[in-house]
Amino acid sequence: MSTHPPTAVIILAAGEGTRMKSAIPKVLHAIGGRSLLGHAMYAARGASPEHLAVVVRHGRDVVARHVAEVDAGAVVADQDEVKGTGRAVECGLGVLPAEVTGTVLVTYGDVPLLTAETLQALTAVHETSGNAVTVITAELDDPTGYGRIVRDQAGAVVRIVEHKDALRDREAGGELEHVLDIREINSGIYAFDAAVLRDCLSRVRTDNAQGEKYLTDVLALAREAGGTVRAHVVEDLWQTEGVNDRVQLARLGAELNRRVVQGWMRAGVTVVDPTTTWIDTDVTIGPDTVVRPGTQLLAACTIGGGAVIGPDTTLTSVEVGDGATVVRTQAEHAVIGPEATVGPFSYLRPGTVLGAHGKIGGFVETKNARIGDGAKVPHLSYVGDATVKEGANIGAGTIFANYDGVAKHHTTVGAHTFVGSNSVLVAPVELADGSYVAAGSAVTGGTEPGELAVARGRQRNVAQWVDRSRAGSPTAAAADAARSGKASERQTASEGDRA
Ligand code: UD1
Ligand code: CA
Repeated sequence: MSTHPPTAVIILAAGEGTRMKSAIPKVLHAIGGRSLLGHAMYAARGASPEHLAVVVRHGRDVVARHVAEVDAGAVVADQDEVKGTGRAVECGLGVLPAEVTGTVLVTYGDVPLLTAETLQALTAVHETSGNAVTVITAELDDPTGYGRIVRDQAGAVVRIVEHKDALRDREAGGELEHVLDIREINSGIYAFDAAVLRDCLSRVRTDNAQGEKYLTDVLALAREAGGTVRAHVVEDLWQTEGVNDRVQLARLGAELNRRVVQGWMRAGVTVVDPTTTWIDTDVTIGPDTVVRPGTQLLAACTIGGGAVIGPDTTLTSVEVGDGATVVRTQAEHAVIGPEATVGPFSYLRPGTVLGAHGKIGGFVETKNARIGDGAKVPHLSYVGDATVKEGANIGAGTIFANYDGVAKHHTTVGAHTFVGSNSVLVAPVELADGSYVAAGSAVTGGTEPGELAVARGRQRNVAQWVDRSRAGSPTAAAADAARSGKASERQTASEGDRA
């Protein structure tokens, strides 16, 4: 079936979304790391339209800014004070070239699971059937609140009646009561012939229960004008479900995640526990990677193949190389090289770049730190504003003191340089390639290649201090016992010599 892509997609996003009870416009709430509107825009773009318009009103400026961020090619259309989905589409048409022809799709900014494939199929059905209007419909067990698809005896779509209008009619003793029993609902997603849409919209009135200009009225008008109106029934109900409150936001977020996680499993990723694994829409993962329970891969994470992530790991915009292992770790805007190991209990802050085969171990925090290939920071360290070159080893408990209370300073640790445990490197410091720092040093100057820096007090022992200052204590008794034990050992040894 070869059909054209649609001429335009108009996404309706002007509504207020009062049930969200939020200062943020509804369509900017996110699931899977993308705004609801972002999901709608990606699906629309996936149908390859010539024009993409988003109709805005509530939270106009912030929504318009977001539209430009998501898709620079999208146009924003402002809805005026006339209410209703019909008016919204009219405003959307207003920003398109005056005489657009062909197919115009209409979708909602708050229906995030609708896919590009469904829009492509809708366009194909619409065009091959030569319809004036094709509406996506679904059969619901509980159709309360939705517009109902009214068909004639032959099964042809005649009109759409809004739930509120059917209710009002019932109260007035009208004949629309049977409409409330119809379970086939209007999803709000349509394909229209552009000319029919323009013409019929100009004739839609606002004499209904909500005093709005209904887009749904276009169907009956198109039919009266001799056009064919058909329904395209979808089985996957999730694709037509909108978000009206935060309960639905979580429900659709969980379903989106289920779909994304399943997609990665089918692509060759092992996900041990799909229910506790959250993977954002924009993440990519290579084959044979294992994702263990309690893992969240957020924003723009890129995970290589053959890696092991988790358990209990949250990565936000992190790049992980092939074969790396990242266990019980929190990391943001960081790069973890191939075959590197991170964790458990590691915290990688923005600007951390760990080289191939490198190691960031338990209770280590890093920030703005380039840690070279094969370099290791195995235990209990803070590495901030640093360059640690290849093969260097940072001993347990080393602190990079990068902040003097006024400004941040940089530390460089040379290639294959060894920093002894419990040292503090007071930045700015430059340790040369191939040098050593003695354990427990407070380093304020650099090293030259081949040097050992010892920056601590020399050990000084005060004899009999315990006997004088802690007389009668268990420590003093232990000292006594140890000394007499040593004396008898010496005696035994010399007796043995004589034998
Ligand atoms: C609409 C349909 C109904 C359908 C339902 C599916 C009409 C008259 N009714 O009802 O048949 O079953 O969607 O969810 O079309 N919007 C604007 N400008 C407006 C009004 C709405 O942009 O003036 C946008 C909203 O932001 C939202 C979408 O259109 O994205 C639907 O609006 P909503 O108020 O939820 O429509 P319903 O009354 O639920
Ligand atoms: Ca709605």
